[in-house]
Amino acid sequence: MENLEQLKNEILDRINTAEDLKQLDEIRVSVMGKKGCITEMMKGLGALPLEEKIALGKGLNILKTEIEKKLETQKNVLEEKALNEKLAGEKVDVTLPIRPEVQGRIHPVSKICEEVAAIFGQMGFEVADGPDIEDQFHNFNALNMPANHPARQMQDTFYINNNPAQPFDMDQAYVVRTQTSGVQIRTMEKQQPPIRIIAMGRTYRSDYDATHTPMFHQVEGLVIDKNITMAHLKGCLLDFMKAFFELDDLPVRYRPSYFPFTEPSAEMDIGCLKTKTELKIGAGTDWLEVLGCGMVHPNVLRAGGIDPNEYQGFAFGIGIDRIAMLKYGIPDLRTFFESDMRWLKHYGFTPLDISSMTGGLSNNGGLAR
Ligand code: DAH
Repeated sequence: MENLEQLKNEILDRINTAEDLKQLDEIRVSVMGKKGCITEMMKGLGALPLEEKIALGKGLNILKTEIEKKLETQKNVLEEKALNEKLAGEKVDVTLPIRPEVQGRIHPVSKICEEVAAIFGQMGFEVADGPDIEDQFHNFNALNMPANHPARQMQDTFYINNNPAQPFDMDQAYVVRTQTSGVQIRTMEKQQPPIRIIAMGRTYRSDYDATHTPMFHQVEGLVIDKNITMAHLKGCLLDFMKAFFELDDLPVRYRPSYFPFTEPSAEMDIGCLKTKTELKIGAGTDWLEVLGCGMVHPNVLRAGGIDPNEYQGFAFGIGIDRIAMLKYGIPDLRTFFESDMRWLKHYGFTPLDISSMTGGLSNNGGLAR
């Protein structure tokens, strides 16, 4: 009986120190299995004298029950331990950034083009296109800027010799377009009114500082129909600016201006607050110029083959890079075109955030910062 007590302590001790369910099962088999020590002792009972058999049999039964109980509790403990370890191993920190990290970035200029197309698309505009290398008729003459027109000097034009066999002839040379306005003419040549288009793309002028680069981007707009007035222009551009800057209440004003291809011409300003360190759109008492616009000049309609006595229209031109700088707080235009991966990572957009009027222009995570 003394031995039984010692055996019990030994077995309970082993059970207590079992580290996992596998070890625990090994202990169970070694004690209660077919060849387990207690099973063997039970088998040996038959050979004992009756009294001893009764006493030892009783002791063994008690021992067996106790060990079974202990095995059960230890099993529960180890099962819980195993579950906790599994859960700890599978823990997900939902606040961590996603892996693998999304690598590509949408350039702010591309993003703005998507946004502009989404807004004007909603208003029923179509997207038109024209070539980067343009003849002077479409870039200048048809836009009421004949040779020697002083307005040509305002645009530091890059000329391209279109006939290398001949000496360079300034009047015949092609240009890399100085403005997207030529697409107005190309559209009128192809399409009868009603016309409602925007044209976005690269433009070129010989200029370089923090707000000018030799290549930059414009969006051109043209609406032609019967009975189009300046009121349509004002409403359309106001709606555009409010949608673009995602502000319901945006102060705007129109200032008289001059463009050869519009009469009357205007520039549109939006209200803002300018301090030394920040620029807040839609607040304060300062103004920022955002676009040029006006009623299409009769000469331009004529050059496009449209009768100005029957049709009127309005047009506008917006600097895409400029409104990108304003909307996303980018201080220097030159950095747009340096292809610096750090800059793109900072100012770029994740590719899956597609701009739409219903899903959001620049939200859904917006900037990939
Ligand atoms: N083409 C002008 C520029 O580059 C912008 C512009 C102004 C376009 C007025 C227009 C307009 O269509 O109506 O400065």
